[in-house]
Amino acid sequence: MIEGTRENGNENGNRIGKKLRYGMIGGGPGAFIGEVHRKAIGLDGMAELAAGCFSRSWEKTLETGRSLGLPEERLYQDFLTMAEKEADRPDPVDFVVVVTPNAQHYGAVKAFLSKGIPVVCDKPLTFETEEAEELAALAKQNNALFAVTYTYTGYPAVKQARELIAAGEIGDIRFVNAEYPQEWLAQPIEQEGQKQASWRTDPALTGKANCTGDIGSHVENLVSYVTGLRIKALCARLDTFGPGRVLDDNVSIMLEYEGGAKGLYWASQIAIGYDNALRLRIFGTKGTIQWLQEDPNHLQVTYLDRPAQILSRGRDAFYPAAQRYSRIPSGHPEGYFEAFANIYKTFIGALEKQKAGEPLTAEDLDFPGPEMGVDGVKFIGACVESSRKGTAWIDL
Ligand SMILES: NC(=O)c1ccc[n+]([C@@H]2O[C@H](COP(=O)([O-])OP(=O)(O)OC[C@H]3O[C@@H](n4cnc5c(N)ncnc54)[C@H](O)[C@@H]3O)[C@@H](O)[C@H]2O)c1
Repeated sequence: MIEGTRENGNENGNRIGKKLRYGMIGGGPGAFIGEVHRKAIGLDGMAELAAGCFSRSWEKTLETGRSLGLPEERLYQDFLTMAEKEADRPDPVDFVVVVTPNAQHYGAVKAFLSKGIPVVCDKPLTFETEEAEELAALAKQNNALFAVTYTYTGYPAVKQARELIAAGEIGDIRFVNAEYPQEWLAQPIEQEGQKQASWRTDPALTGKANCTGDIGSHVENLVSYVTGLRIKALCARLDTFGPGRVLDDNVSIMLEYEGGAKGLYWASQIAIGYDNALRLRIFGTKGTIQWLQEDPNHLQVTYLDRPAQILSRGRDAFYPAAQRYSRIPSGHPEGYFEAFANIYKTFIGALEKQKAGEPLTAEDLDFPGPEMGVDGVKFIGACVESSRKGTAWIDL
């Protein structure tokens, strides 16, 4: 057993041995999600930041690297140099985290996977399906673990919903309704230089869709993760309400799944009064499940002819596959950081087992992987194509 493997830790991650080392691409000064990833990885103490290229600006990489206590020799001017130099070191990073705007995902992920270095990349994985498929193939070829941080898969209540459906508790799924309304782009704040809005509304940096890719892809992934349903066909209308915008800030989608179930998704960045109101409702032949991202510790389950039940994380017979992702007792809320941490807990645990030469089980690999990254990019492409064709039905 190598240092830093499971024998050195307990279920809560209080580890005595050496931690794995990770590098980060993106997450410089003022960045949003890079800091969330760093804090989430820190939660279980399974890995520590060892290297980075936090920005295209060398000064900003130095600023972030120094503030995080990294030595200058592990800071890099660009991710290609970082991949080369880290791969040549006797103590290279064990994995890298890619948290740049979407445009850089493909190049950065490819640089590290080509060296056999495992990668965690944020969503959406790439602009084009072929690029995502190429990265998935590269990971397989180089036996490198590869995760895509679809955050909402990390919540215990989401995993409980998945377990309930797999156990047949709500019967056969008939209809799925999922929505993700946000308010933050109700005004054209990108015209005032707001960092996150600026690149998300720029096709060169975000890809062929804004709202559909940024939060519609979360809806697609959440439904897929919880239900296991495969999309057979969809039709979508992408709307652009913000003045001066070229990409969508609102999208409505109808879906047909393999097996006959139907779905309706809506994602919006112009929904005044809503912060991150992701809601999932799954209607089966025996019951209905509802989960709200802004009340993530609870799951509502309703059986035919019975009153609605509210299941609470940490009690109410959560299945072990869901409960094991909970760190504190019920009633003390867990949230966004823990959801990210749960993706890392599983990913790093799998990496440690792989390094120790142990076989990986399905449970070890319970994090969103490259196939989900590919599905997400395919979904965005189909929505854009449908809308361009006058909301035509597109087969996937
Ligand atoms: N999973 C989620 O819930 C979630 C939430 C927010 C954002 N995201 C995704 O995370 C990614 C980043 O989003 P954000 O809101 O943090 O963006 P951001 O603009 O806040 O941060 C991006 C960072 O990447 C850096 N960067 C840009 N090009 C680079 C390069 N070539 N090399 C190194 N660094 C570079 C920028 O300097 C900046 O520090 C996007 O793909 C986004 O879709 C995911």
